Amino acid sequence: MRRTFRGHLATLAVVAGLAACSPAQTLREEADGREVLVGAAARAYLLTEGRYVTTLAREYNLLEPENELKWEAIHPAPQVFDFLPGDQLVEFGRLHRMKVRGHCLVWGRYVPRWLSDGHYSADQLRQLLHEHISQVVSHYKGKVFAWDVINEAMDENGRLRSSLWYDQPGIGEAGRGPAYIEQGFRWAHEADPEALLFYNEAEGEALNVKSDALYAMVRDFKRRGVPIDGVGLQMHILDLKPDIAGITANIRRLTGLGLQVHITELDVALPVEGEGRPRNAADWQRQAEIYRSVALACFSQPGCTAIQTWGFTDKYSWIRNWTKGNKGSPLLFDRDYVPKPAYFAFRDVLRSLPLHVGAPVQ
Ligand code: XIL
Repeated sequence: MRRTFRGHLATLAVVAGLAACSPAQTLREEADGREVLVGAAARAYLLTEGRYVTTLAREYNLLEPENELKWEAIHPAPQVFDFLPGDQLVEFGRLHRMKVRGHCLVWGRYVPRWLSDGHYSADQLRQLLHEHISQVVSHYKGKVFAWDVINEAMDENGRLRSSLWYDQPGIGEAGRGPAYIEQGFRWAHEADPEALLFYNEAEGEALNVKSDALYAMVRDFKRRGVPIDGVGLQMHILDLKPDIAGITANIRRLTGLGLQVHITELDVALPVEGEGRPRNAADWQRQAEIYRSVALACFSQPGCTAIQTWGFTDKYSWIRNWTKGNKGSPLLFDRDYVPKPAYFAFRDVLRSLPLHVGAPVQ
C-alpha cells in the first residue's frame, strides 16, 4: 500500500514537472516571430557529428562559418577558390531555414602565405582584393544575407592597425585613414547590392576610446552614403565583468545612426581547472546572468537584431586555445550538449520579448 502511494507520488511529480516546463520551446522557436535572430558560429567538418547537427538545427535560426570563408581557407592559392566547406554550411542553413552571415572579406590576419609573402605592389593588392571580394560575394549572392566586410581594423586605441590592406603596402590608400575600408564596402556592395554589410570589431563593445573611434568612422560613412548597414560587436567576454550599461549605451548610439547592430561572437569564458571543467556552480550562475544581461542590452533595442555565439557547445570552442588553457566553458551547451544555466537565462530574455506578427527579419 505504502509503495503504491509512493508510486503515485512519483508519477504525479513527473507529470507536474512536465507541465511546469512545457511547452519546451527551443531558442529558435522563441526567436522566430519576434524579429530577432539567434545564431552560432559553426564548423563544416563537424557536420558529420549527429548531436552537433541536431542541436544546431533545433536551436538556431542563424549560422556563420567560423573559419571557412576567411582568405586563408577560401582562397588558398592565387587562382584557387575553395568554396566547398563554406557551401556545405550554407546548404545546411538552407535545408534548415537558417540565415547565414559571412565572415569575413578583409582582415589583416588569416591571410594565406602566398599573399602575405608575395611582395605584391599596392596596385596588385588592390586588384587582388577587388577580385577576391567580387568572387566570394558573388558566389554567395542571395545565400549569405549579411557580410562582415572588414574585421578588426582598429587597435585598442582606436587607431587603424597596420596591415597588408592598409599600409603594408596597402591597396593604394595608405595614410588616408579608413579609405581602404570604405573601398571594401563599395566593392562588396557592387557584388551583391542586397546583402547587408557590416563592420565587425572586438573590444569596442562598451564606451571607450576604441568604440568612440568606431562610432566616428561609421557615422562619417553613413553621412557620406558609404554602403554600410551595420556594426558587428564581437563580445568575447573574458573576465566575467562586462560593463552592461556601457554596452547598452554603445548599442543605442550606433543604432541611433540608423545602423543595425549584431552581436557576432558572444562567449563568456570561465576560469577552468585541470581538465577544462569550471571551478564551481556559482561561476555557471554568474555566466548565466551575463548572458541574460547581454541579451537584454541587445534585444531591448529595436536596431539590435541578432545575437550569435562563437560556437554553441563547450566541446568545440576557440577559448581554451586562445587563453592557453586558462579559460573555458564559455557557451550555452556543455561538452555533452546539455543546456547550461546560461541557456535558460538567454531563452528567458527571448520569451520576454513581444511577439511580432509582421514580416520576417531581413
Ligand atoms: C577564431 C576561430 O574561432 C578559431 O577556430 C581560429 O583558429 C582563429 O579564429 N575574432 C574573429 C574570429 O573575428 O574570426 C576569430 O575566430 C576569433 C576572434
